[in-house]
Parts: sequence; structure tokens; C-alpha cells
Amino acid sequence: MNEVRQDDGAHASGAALKKVVLASNNAGKLREFAALLDAAGIELIAQGTLNVPEAEEPHPTFVENALTKARHAAKLTGLPALADDSGLCVRALRGAPGVYSARYAQLAGGEKSDAANNARLVAALQGETDRRGYYYCVLALVRHADDPEPLIAEGRWHGEILDAPRGEHGFGYDPYFFLPSLNASAAELEPAVKNASSHRAIALRQLLARLSEEA
Ligand code: IMP
Repeated sequence: MNEVRQDDGAHASGAALKKVVLASNNAGKLREFAALLDAAGIELIAQGTLNVPEAEEPHPTFVENALTKARHAAKLTGLPALADDSGLCVRALRGAPGVYSARYAQLAGGEKSDAANNARLVAALQGETDRRGYYYCVLALVRHADDPEPLIAEGRWHGEILDAPRGEHGFGYDPYFFLPSLNASAAELEPAVKNASSHRAIALRQLLARLSEEA
């Protein structure tokens, strides 16, 4: 594995961040984050293009996982790094699937797929009248791997869980995640609309505000 170290900007203050590695290879996330960071003059590079492998996400909290991923990418590249960790938290399920959202069905012996996760979610909520839930996202930005003051931001996007799917866009739990204020499921929203209002967008705007406070 060729690790590429790029030291420019590694120890810069938040205000001076020019180039940041995204600790994810998810093309959708890269597009979503890059568009917003570009407006702040920050270039975002996917860790895969620098040959950084995916980090483990072993922790029981979102923030620990996000920090672990950010540190991992910063350590291997020498660049400031941004990571996110997210999931769906359902009130009647005491916050499940939560940090285990990607593996919700797998943890019950099923397969690791959106379809299996959604089937488990619908089954878990059968007969439940409280359908409230939210997507949660934590972002962690480290200026270097040992940054003692990582920037942390969070976003919650509130909705209700449907028992039948609606819409074709998005991914994950989106067809079952209904936004009463928009009268649509997340999968019925145009991607640009979702990307402007989602938990990730809320967290990213908070992060950008923190960065500008440092300027
Ligand atoms: P991660 O942050 O990429 O680890 O995402 C964790 C899991 O949370 C995903 O695999 C999805 O199951 C769920 N998730 C996070 N954000 C969204 C979203 O915007 N739509 C649908 N599912 C999501």
C-alpha cells in the first residue's frame, strides 16, 4: 500500500485549512461535503485517492467513531482530515439502530444490506404508534493526527418512520424516513433538496461556522 503524505496545511489553524482529506470513500458524501466546503475555499480529497484504507468503526458512540476515522486518515496522509459518522435513531426503539445503523440486520443474523436493515426496522416498529426518529450526524475535523482540539459538529434531521417505502432517491433508510414539514420521504426529495437539509448539511454548516470563528 502506498501511503501518500502531504504535509502542506497539516498543522495549519482552522482558518488556514486549504486541503482536507475526507475519511470516507462514499462518492455521495464526497459530492455533498465538497460542494459546501468549496464555498469556504477548502478542497476536499477522498481518502481512497490517497490509498488510505477504510478505518474500523468499533466504538459505541458516533463521536468516537468519527474521531477515529479522522485521526486514521490524518495519520496516513499528513493532511487535515474530516470524518463523519451517522445513523438513524428511533425513539420507540430507544435510539436503535443508532450507531449500528449500517449493520442493523446483520447484528440479528441477517445480511448487510439496506433492504434487510429496512425490513428489520419495519418489523421492530410493527404496531407502534410513536414513529418519531431522527438521522444523526457527527463530524470530526482534525488539523493533524494528534490534534488535541478537534472540531466537532453535529446535526439532527427529525422525521417519522413509515411502514411502507416511498421514493427512489437516496440510500439506506431514506424510503422509510418521512419529513412531515416537506410532506415527503427522504427518498422522494431531489438530491439537492436532501443535501441542503439533511443531518450532514446541518452538521457541516455548524462546522463551517466554527471554522470561521477561528479565522
Ligand atoms: P455511515 O455514517 O456512513 O457509517 O452511515 C451509517 C448508516 O446510517 C448508513 O449505512 C445508513 O444505514 C444510515 N444513514 C446515515 N445517513 C443516512 C441517510 O442520509 N440516509 C439513509 N440512511 C442513512
